Amino acid sequence: MGNYFNMIYNDDCLTVLPKIDTSSIDLVLTDPPYFIGKEMKKNRAVNKLKFNDSGETINTQMSWDISWESKEEYLNFIKNVFIELVRVLKDDRHIILFVDKKDLSYIIKIGEDCRLKFRKVLFWRKTNPVPLADGIGPMTSMELAVWFTKGSVKKEHYNKNLGLITDVLNAPIPSAEGSKIRHPSQKPILFGLQWISYLTKPNDVVLDCFAGGGTFLLASKLLNRNYIGIESNKQYCENIQYRLNTPNSLVASKFNSFIHDTLKNKLDGIDKTEILTILGSNAERVVANDLF
Ligand SMILES: C[S@@+](CC[C@H](N)C(=O)[O-])C[C@H]1O[C@@H](n2cnc3c(N)ncnc32)[C@H](O)[C@@H]1O
Repeated sequence: MGNYFNMIYNDDCLTVLPKIDTSSIDLVLTDPPYFIGKEMKKNRAVNKLKFNDSGETINTQMSWDISWESKEEYLNFIKNVFIELVRVLKDDRHIILFVDKKDLSYIIKIGEDCRLKFRKVLFWRKTNPVPLADGIGPMTSMELAVWFTKGSVKKEHYNKNLGLITDVLNAPIPSAEGSKIRHPSQKPILFGLQWISYLTKPNDVVLDCFAGGGTFLLASKLLNRNYIGIESNKQYCENIQYRLNTPNSLVASKFNSFIHDTLKNKLDGIDKTEILTILGSNAERVVANDLF
């Protein structure tokens, strides 16, 4: 498939992934549908989907999440994606995949069946969790991602400049404020910045095969990594192009020097988790100010 770096493919990932060269990817960072749409359908009060009188989706906002007949069919789809991801990943490199909490054990098993080494569960703690519609029960403030490694853990690369980081990343739910194109399940860019920066080097290749709003592609671009994005929804692909192309290279270099300066100036003598918190809120603000 020629030079396919820094491109967005508007197609099903199971159509595009087989065209990617074996052992050509340095990091997979992706966020598949959780297949929770059917459950959401049961409670229309808290549901972002809109239904007609027959109960069919009339709003495509999250229709991509209900494409499977059963959980078994969904997990089988995820397994087929994993098989391709393991093939395209280089040895001693990593896959990070967001998961629904209920599926954690299934997804770890799928990864291990594909001969990946399970490393850790990574957490995104939402600093602005949303109250439940019925007001009953604690707000959900954690989203989970699973980190796997292919091959030998001893040979892997870490960016030691990030210092001692933890498995919990604090960041707000990305706001639609100031942004024309927030994806309904958009993840914070800081999550991408931290883990891409930690596990890859400049010019490495990052793959996101469920690109959504393109958050992890933008993080890759800002960190001078190559990216490959796959997204089945045409409108989302257009949004990603807009998001990636609106900032010019000046914005990217400004953002990069911001990260380097922040780390360089603040690394000594203060709590490293505090640095990441500072970096987090500023990173979100710089991106928001510059891109939208
Ligand atoms: C959870 S969202 C990703 C959100 C993204 N991480 C962000 O921050 O904006 C999952 C995306 O996968 C896309 N998708 C669903 N099935 C797909 C498939 N088979 N191939 C490619 N993309 C798919 C959906 O359209 C949706 O935008």
